[in-house]
Amino acid sequence: MQKGVAVWFTGLSGTGKTTICRLVEAELINYGIRVEVLDGDEVRKRLTADLGFSKEDRQKNIERVAFVAKLLTRNDVIVLASFITPYRHMRDYCRQEISSFIEVFVKCSLAECIRRDVKGLYKKALKGEIHGFTGISDPFEEPENPDIVLDTENEAPDESAAIIIHYLMQHQYIKVEQP
Ligand SMILES: Nc1ncnc2c1ncn2[C@@H]1O[C@H](COP(=O)(O)OP(=O)(O)OP(=O)(O)O)[C@@H](O)[C@H]1O
Ligand SMILES: [Mg+2]
Repeated sequence: MQKGVAVWFTGLSGTGKTTICRLVEAELINYGIRVEVLDGDEVRKRLTADLGFSKEDRQKNIERVAFVAKLLTRNDVIVLASFITPYRHMRDYCRQEISSFIEVFVKCSLAECIRRDVKGLYKKALKGEIHGFTGISDPFEEPENPDIVLDTENEAPDESAAIIIHYLMQHQYIKVEQP
């Protein structure tokens, strides 16, 4: 049994959105639940390959993804969406558009994200080689009222993933038969 919902992971680059989404995805697949991951990096190679990182393009990127998430959730798929989604109005848009929506703030200090620098992008942004980089030269508006906060500076990735699974069960988006 499952009820469609978009679990929307928002946070700075390097906070752990993709890492946690993939762990949650694997666990849901294990339970036989239908799930789709919409990940910023992949979506930008295909669905929104024509868009850049201006304020307008970031908005269009999120609007297209929200549309896809809406189609999937209304067919009871669990959608795991991993996007920086830096502006509050974008997240508000998604909540309204998708309706079945869980806002997950993947929280980690900028200093730790810079230390991790998984993709080497902070280094470039700090040298001024990337313009409009979230956290460095573009704002990240912290969620004021997220449904879930994951503290990835102090939790292990599987602990963060377990919090999501627990929330989905507790709020009856998924029901798992015990063997
Ligand atoms: N609790 C945690 N949850 C998730 N990732 C963690 C955690 N603790 C440490 N990490 C590490 O932080 C890094 C997060 O990278 P990841 O690519 O998942 O970030 P992201 O939020 O998807 O970034 P981007 O927005 O650039 O795609 C990984 O190297 C991961 O191993
Ligand atoms: Mg990612």
